[in-house]
Amino acid sequence: MAVKQVGIVGCGQMGSGIAEVCARAGYIVVVSEADEALLKRGLASIEGSLARAVSRGKMTEADKATTLKRISGTTSVEGFKDCQLVIEAVVENMAEKRKVFAALDQACQKDAILASNTSCLSVTEMAVATKRPDKVLGIHFFNPVPVMKPVELVRTILTSAETIATARDFSQSLGKSVVVSPDTPGFIVNRLLTPYLLDAVRLLESGTVSREDIDQAVTLGLNHPMGPLALADLIGLDTLYSISTALYEEFKDPRYAAPPLLRRMVLARWLGRKTGKGFYDYPKVKA
Ligand SMILES: NC(=O)c1ccc[n+]([C@@H]2O[C@H](COP(=O)([O-])OP(=O)(O)OC[C@H]3O[C@@H](n4cnc5c(N)ncnc54)[C@H](O)[C@@H]3O)[C@@H](O)[C@H]2O)c1
Repeated sequence: MAVKQVGIVGCGQMGSGIAEVCARAGYIVVVSEADEALLKRGLASIEGSLARAVSRGKMTEADKATTLKRISGTTSVEGFKDCQLVIEAVVENMAEKRKVFAALDQACQKDAILASNTSCLSVTEMAVATKRPDKVLGIHFFNPVPVMKPVELVRTILTSAETIATARDFSQSLGKSVVVSPDTPGFIVNRLLTPYLLDAVRLLESGTVSREDIDQAVTLGLNHPMGPLALADLIGLDTLYSISTALYEEFKDPRYAAPPLLRRMVLARWLGRKTGKGFYDYPKVKA
């Protein structure tokens, strides 16, 4: 099936990035948000990201205008009725995701593919909320989407080979490199990344090492582009907390248990860059 129009549910950090790369690749894009104010914020963040690309000389003003023309917004699931592929990027919560999949199943054409950008939750559990589980898969992008090269395609035991083939062609048309993972908690990258990030929080919690020393040691010592606490702030501490809770729930392995400090920061809405405060402060962001 040829994908021409792509729907994105949720225009937060990830949804806005996915919408941007799809529109830049020439797809017609429809994004949805929970209400008009959030939709306006999401569309503004796409425009801001494109404006930064122009100011860095990576895109012309004319290309920016053409890209923006391909993107429209909606607050209703009906807005996706002409899409051949819809990618869900709402909060990392199974109840919310199942509601979205059930609604998409009702609103979308029978042969449309429904995908989740979940970081670690079971795609099978979302697929069975629909009547088309063979057309459901994970398309897991990485943050920031316009920059990061990989995409993990998550194949459940119900996903058809045709669905995977279409998703592979689509992801490659965005310039992404594809790896296929089974529907196992955390897939490949987050299964390996999560214990490392949680260990950094535990080290900070021990009170023996500063946040700066943890991040600088890793950045320089392991040649990583950023340290684990800065990366946790970029991911969003609510998302990291949800990932660790879901992995712990499945494996009962203490390596995946959220440290008390992380839970308290989430309760305090210190969610990292997106709320202006996490392990570090981001004064430019309005809380
Ligand atoms: N943050 C990361 O680094 C990262 C990386 C890869 C994947 N993910 C996954 O992507 C998903 C989104 O994460 P995020 O970081 O963008 O979160 P976010 O909080 O920035 O964005 C989620 C957005 O979804 C919107 N939303 C909630 N319910 C909705 C609904 N019913 N309809 C439309 N919009 C709705 C919210 O208003 C919010 O703007 C999660 O599943 C997360 O695990 C996150």
